[in-house]
Amino acid sequence: MDFIRKVLFLNILTVCGQGKVLTGSFWHITDLHWDPTYSLGNGNSASVCGSSGNRPTPDAGQFGDYLCDSPWDLINSSVHAMRDILPDPDFIIWTGDDTPHVPNEDLGEEAVLRIIGNLTHIIKVLFPNTKVYSALGNHDYHPKSQLPPQQNNMYEQIQKLWEDWLDPASRDTFKRGGYYTEKLLNQTGLRVLVLNTNLYYDQNSVTENLKDPADQFKWADQVLSEATKNKEKVYIVGHIPPGFFEKKRHKPWFRPEFNKNYLELIQKYHDIIIGQFFGHHHTDSFRMFYDTSGVPISAMFLTPGVTPWKTTLPGVEDGANNPGIRVFEYDDKTLLVKDMVTYYLNLTHANIARARWEKEYRLTEAFRVPDASPASMHRVLERLAGETCYLQKYYEFNSVNYDLTVCDADCRIDHVCAIREVDFEDYEHCVVKEGGSSAAPALLTVALAAALGMWTSY
Ligand SMILES: *[C@@H]1O[C@H](CO)[C@@H](O)[C@H](O)[C@H]1NC(C)=O
Ligand SMILES: *[C@@H]1O[C@H](CO)[C@@H](O)[C@H](O)[C@H]1NC(C)=O
Ligand SMILES: *[C@@H]1O[C@H](CO)[C@@H](O)[C@H](O)[C@H]1NC(C)=O
Ligand SMILES: *[C@@H]1O[C@H](CO)[C@@H](O)[C@H](O)[C@H]1NC(C)=O
Ligand SMILES: [Zn+2]
Ligand SMILES: [Zn+2]
Repeated sequence: MDFIRKVLFLNILTVCGQGKVLTGSFWHITDLHWDPTYSLGNGNSASVCGSSGNRPTPDAGQFGDYLCDSPWDLINSSVHAMRDILPDPDFIIWTGDDTPHVPNEDLGEEAVLRIIGNLTHIIKVLFPNTKVYSALGNHDYHPKSQLPPQQNNMYEQIQKLWEDWLDPASRDTFKRGGYYTEKLLNQTGLRVLVLNTNLYYDQNSVTENLKDPADQFKWADQVLSEATKNKEKVYIVGHIPPGFFEKKRHKPWFRPEFNKNYLELIQKYHDIIIGQFFGHHHTDSFRMFYDTSGVPISAMFLTPGVTPWKTTLPGVEDGANNPGIRVFEYDDKTLLVKDMVTYYLNLTHANIARARWEKEYRLTEAFRVPDASPASMHRVLERLAGETCYLQKYYEFNSVNYDLTVCDADCRIDHVCAIREVDFEDYEHCVVKEGGSSAAPALLTVALAAALGMWTSY
């Protein structure tokens, strides 16, 4: 009743041209992965970049190669594109992974800090007056992915690099655990939590036997409990997301207990958590969170990376992407995510002609939803799960227009279940259920399900 009255009220206001709903916008960029070794100068296509790992790169050009991490020209081009497209965002979310995919021996603490320093510098130069909420990625540490649950030299040094962007209280928790919280843009009623979810990564051996690394869950619970009392609206920002990789079946990142804890945190505080913004996948996807009766309560947005680097993760076929950057439009009073617009660089075109950043798509146009609320994102999921044309569209966006092949029945299961189920067990049930209830003829479906059951193991 109350809700309906509110909607009617808002409609009347809008029709009369009063009560204009305010809209703000912000950038989300992630996974820049600068490879300082990238060089066309040596005339040897086998060693254009360290990050290709000896894969030949005959097509390498000024702005990069699908087998390499970003050359400086791509980094520069993407941050300039941000300034050309939206020079005065309310703020910038930057979710980490700054260094190249090379063996630890080729980096070291100093090299990692220098790379983070260079990327921080170019963002500061082109956005001198913009607040940046910056999260650590698993590649922003040496050795990679081993982010510790306590104070250390690298957290301290990175804190110095980001000092201008951090409130004094944030600096303390950042040095201690790589996480922080502040009022969003210093406004009463709005809050951002920047998490260090690299502590939950199953490749991080220093947090392996801990219940609550760096006390981050306990801290987040306290912050969100306090935020509830103060009737705040909250954005959560981080690098590695919970749940599964949509390009590889049965591939999660978090350890099981940490995955459960994260999910519980969202379920407990979903009333005030209005958006979650993560990276790490380099692909464009999203994750849904539901309450126990299946009502959508939260959405997590996975923004594509700037690096085009083709993943070497076994089992992922042709996992490269075009460089992508994203603008979110939001209601700057309620934090409701109203829309998102993804821009991209066609790397092939950039190398043969010029670097032209284009609009890839606008969420509400491409999927015909009114906004990016949890209910709307649930509708996006239902659309792509149920209609081939939406699935195909989503799939092409997933690699930022790099992989334009057909998303077949197996591909559909991988993506739909990864988006729908962040919980490990529910994901497995989804894979079985989707495999057994596809629209294919019944006999084929049964055979397919049986085959899937036989071939897929952990
Ligand atoms: C960075 O990109 C801008 C815009 O394309 C260009 O004008 C500038 O020369 C570039 N700077 C470097 C150092 O490449
Ligand atoms: C990176 O930063 C170092 C100083 O730490 C500087 O000497 C170097 O020129 C920078 N490189 C680029 C490409 O900005
Ligand atoms: C944030 O707002 C408070 C008052 O509400 C003010 O005292 C403080 O200087 C502000 N901080 C920043 C960084 O603007
Ligand atoms: C990217 O550019 C290449 C070369 O111009 C072109 O063949 C290809 O179709 C473009 N890709 C997309 C998705 O537009
Ligand atoms: Zn990455
Ligand atoms: Zn990562």
